[in-house]
Parts: sequence; structure tokens; C-alpha cells
Amino acid sequence: MTGTGTGVRRSHLMTIHEFSSGDLIADRRADYALALAGSGDLPAAIDLMNQALDLVPGWAAGWFRLAEWQEAAGDTDAARDSWRRVVQIDPADRLGAGLRLDLARTVPVTEAMPAAFVETLFDQYAERFETSLVDQLGYQGPAQIVEALLLAGRTRFERVLDLGCGTGLMGQAIRPHAGWLEGYDISGRMLAQARVKGVYDALHKRDVSRLELGGAGFDLILAADVFIYVGALEQIMGWAAASVSPGGVLAFTLEELPEGEGDLRLRPSRRYAHSADYVEKLLEQAGFGAPSFSRATLRMDAGQPVSGLTVLAVRATQPFRRETDGEEMASA
Ligand SMILES: C[S@@+](CC[C@H](N)C(=O)[O-])C[C@H]1O[C@@H](n2cnc3c(N)ncnc32)[C@H](O)[C@@H]1O
Repeated sequence: MTGTGTGVRRSHLMTIHEFSSGDLIADRRADYALALAGSGDLPAAIDLMNQALDLVPGWAAGWFRLAEWQEAAGDTDAARDSWRRVVQIDPADRLGAGLRLDLARTVPVTEAMPAAFVETLFDQYAERFETSLVDQLGYQGPAQIVEALLLAGRTRFERVLDLGCGTGLMGQAIRPHAGWLEGYDISGRMLAQARVKGVYDALHKRDVSRLELGGAGFDLILAADVFIYVGALEQIMGWAAASVSPGGVLAFTLEELPEGEGDLRLRPSRRYAHSADYVEKLLEQAGFGAPSFSRATLRMDAGQPVSGLTVLAVRATQPFRRETDGEEMASA
């Protein structure tokens, strides 16, 4: 294989196994490198993988693997350089190297997850999503949201939008309480699974972190286990406030970031956690009334319970004029 061979041209998401079908010297070195890493000899694996990458410098997955070994061997600087190479080769960052790069910093600063990474992740996950999340990890998000709505006395919604609807678990849970039910998701394969359930009136492939203003009039907007992939929530809260009707509800789950750890944080799980204070402040700024929070285990992760927050916020029914300075404000 050479740097201009077919393997390189189709290489962005190529796994080492797929790469092996291509060729030869680089191929063999990558295979040996894998075997060495498997046996725990990381320095030798790194050396061989560097040699393979000299021959195929455009192989994004090879750089990604090299970075993982470099990080495991304690050479974080080299790992960061290798993850940077992945992002340069594939600016859409379908492997999520930007996140790894960021996690390797002392203080992670990424505030948004690359859309192409999330799409690839869930496209690959779609067929085993429910078995894995519900059956194995005890995921409870949709049931917790519906329970919170019913406890708040909100039992019927005429126009419902389910952001990040996935395979349709939230849709199934809310269907008995909904008139029109619409779902958005970034992953075509998750949407295909949702379509099979037949509970949505409309499904659209959309990136919920880049929604256009204009489709106002939902009386319930839902986001179950979705904002953990979005990161900073300023934009989406503003969009939701403009898209839910006065008196309507925004209901979502989050992984809770404990007090004193900042507004939001990207965790090693590659999901974001958000603090209750941050969310409360954003909702208020966007024009929602004081939210209600309920705390419960959202799901398990690596044998540990993940602390979840279920949040309900009601859109202000009318703007009021603050007498002191005449500024337009919103009240619940
Ligand atoms: C953990 S699943 C939850 C699915 C569903 N809400 C549920 O409770 O079962 C997260 C879903 O959010 C979607 N998602 C994540 N980020 C997104 C984005 N920026 N735009 C649209 N969908 C997104 C993923 O594709 C995935 O289907």
C-alpha cells in the first residue's frame, strides 16, 4: 500500500481489520503492532504503528489507535499530537478524536460534541440500543419524564416534539398523552428504528444543536438523555423557549454535575454532566419559570449508578414590564 492507494482513499473510518484487506508492508506492521499492544508491549506497538503510518499517513483510524496506545503508555503529549492528526485528516471528526484530545487536557474545555461523531456513534449503536440501554443498563429516562409530568398534573399535550427521539422509547411513553407527536434525531438509523414503532406522526433527521427558529407552537418539548450529547445548552434553551407555546412545558433529563464543579463537564464516558444551577439560570434567562428537579438513577454505567436529573420547566404565559427600568421580562 502507498500513501495514494485505495486503502488511504477510503480510510477515514477504516478499522485496522478493514485496513488489513488492503496491503502489505504497512498492513503487516499494523497487525504486528496490534498483537504487541494486545500482549502489553506498548512501546514496541507504538514503534511499529509509527512505521505503518509513515507509509499511510492519511489513515485516520491508525492515528487514533496510536494515540490510545501513547496515552496508555503515559506519553500524553504524543497522544495529543496523534489525535490532532486525526482531526486534520477528518475535520468532520467521525471518530471523536477532538473529544479525546480535550479529555487529555488538564481542564477539558470542549462545550459541544461534533455532530458527525454523534451521528456515527448512534448509527452504529442503533440496532442494539434498546437491548443494551434498557435491558442491560436499566435506562429509565422516558418513564421518569412521564412520571414527573403526571405528578405536576400535566396529562394531555396537543403538539409534542421529542428532541433526540432515538429509537422511540420516549415516543412510546408519551403517546397516550399526546395528540400530534413529532421526533427529531441526528442518526438516520435510530430514526429508522423509531419509524418501525409507528408511534410518531412525523420524524425528521435534524441536528438539535442547530435548529432554526420558526416552528413555534409545541405545548411539550422533550429531550430524554440527549443534552448529555449536546454540551453547552444556551442555544437550545433559547430555541426551546421560542418554540414552546406560552404555558407549555420543556421536559428533559441530564446527568447531574455536583455543586462546586462548574456549569458543565465532559466526562471520560464522553457524555456531558450539567449542574442544576447552570440549567436553572439558563431556563430563567430564556423565559421559563422556576424549574422543578427530581433526582433519580438514570441508568447504570460500568456497574455504577448514574445520578440523573429530570427537569420540568414551564414557559412564561405572558411578558411583563419591570417598573424600575421598563425592560421587557418574562414571568411564569
Ligand atoms: C441516549 S439516546 C436517547 C434516545 C431517546 N431520547 C430515549 O430516551 O430513548 C440519545 C439520542 O440523541 C440523539 N442525539 C444526540 N445528539 C443529537 C443532536 N445534536 N441532534 C439530534 N439528535 C441527537 C442520538 O442520535 C440518540 O438517538
